[in-house]
Amino acid sequence: MGGRSDLTGLVLGIESSCDETGVALFDGNSGKVVAEALHSQIALHAPYGGVVPELASRDHINYGLRLVDDVLTKSGISETSLQAIAYTQGPGLAGALLVGAQLAASLAFAWDKPLIPVHHMEGHLLSPLLADPAPQFPFVALLVSGGHTQLMRVDGVGRYELLGDTIDDAAGEAFDKSAKLLGLAYPGGPLLAKLAEGGDAAAFAIPRPLLHSGDLNFSFAGLKTAVANEVRHLTGTALPARGAVSMPQPILPLEHPRRADLAASVQAAIVDSLVTKSLRALKQTGLKQIVVAGGVGANVSLRVALTVGAERIGAKVFYPPVALCTDNGAMIAHVGALRLSEATRDYAVNVRPRWALSELLPATAM
Ligand code: KG4
Ligand code: ZN
Repeated sequence: MGGRSDLTGLVLGIESSCDETGVALFDGNSGKVVAEALHSQIALHAPYGGVVPELASRDHINYGLRLVDDVLTKSGISETSLQAIAYTQGPGLAGALLVGAQLAASLAFAWDKPLIPVHHMEGHLLSPLLADPAPQFPFVALLVSGGHTQLMRVDGVGRYELLGDTIDDAAGEAFDKSAKLLGLAYPGGPLLAKLAEGGDAAAFAIPRPLLHSGDLNFSFAGLKTAVANEVRHLTGTALPARGAVSMPQPILPLEHPRRADLAASVQAAIVDSLVTKSLRALKQTGLKQIVVAGGVGANVSLRVALTVGAERIGAKVFYPPVALCTDNGAMIAHVGALRLSEATRDYAVNVRPRWALSELLPATAM
């Protein structure tokens, strides 16, 4: 694997950018995750239909230190053996990021270890390197999460070229918003995927904007309008008048016989857009490897369709294990190890809720 030879030592990683508290210990010598612990806040936010930032921050405070303790205990490794502590500096919810950053800085100060600020999306982007088999640089990456839908060319650690991006909603957002219209709980993506298993993907004509645009960009905002209109149609509610500013959100009753068909049709539209543009990215770059990273990468229908499409053009798809697709501490500890030479004893807590991946610099040689 490209980069892995640069790794040395044990790095503790702390993730707290959104609704999972994740801690892991990564061993750069073996290239393996030694121990990890994760606490999901899904149950905490579910009654509100989405992440409540203040609750997220408080919950990270409750769990952060416990998970660190848990990981060190499980691994049987003392904090004195740590080489550095890595934490998610951004992007994400400001309050949630501050909790993880503060925890990392306090531990680093107390244990006299250097700190490494990590970009959350770089964590996702490089997580397929933790899988076996791992891709070799250069490769194409499809980054699909709740807030991102990007195609990147990856030439090395920090050497990223943006090939395509969403012009509006992210793919995960499209899954989650459609799921809400189908009466599913938060986060809707995995629940919609489950519901779609028994449905007919050709039952509803859900639009695929920009599919034939020739570029590598995505658009998913029109999808939720299309789904809302199908739900209005199925429930016999009036369509919004032309120019109407807002309408109450229609929700398909749980007993409606067409729910699975609509879920399958929505999923097919999202997957079709992602696969078409991913294959185009492979053709345009001439690269033969593509990695899928981020929460939506857990979607089985996407995995199957992309694998089949890539095989047809002689390319190979790399997926991180599902547990590595959604937010976790291992991907942060891993990037920390790849960027170990950037560790400093600057303990000022400084988070970056908005931080473009393009601002990152290549990892410096060790
Ligand atoms: O990467 P992630 O855990 O958090 C962010 O950084 O955004 O991604 C979360 C997103 C959510 O929109 C969730 O609904 C979606 O990933 N997701 C899925 C599946 N599992 C998670 N979407 C479709 N199918 C899945 N199986
Ligand atoms: Zn994420």
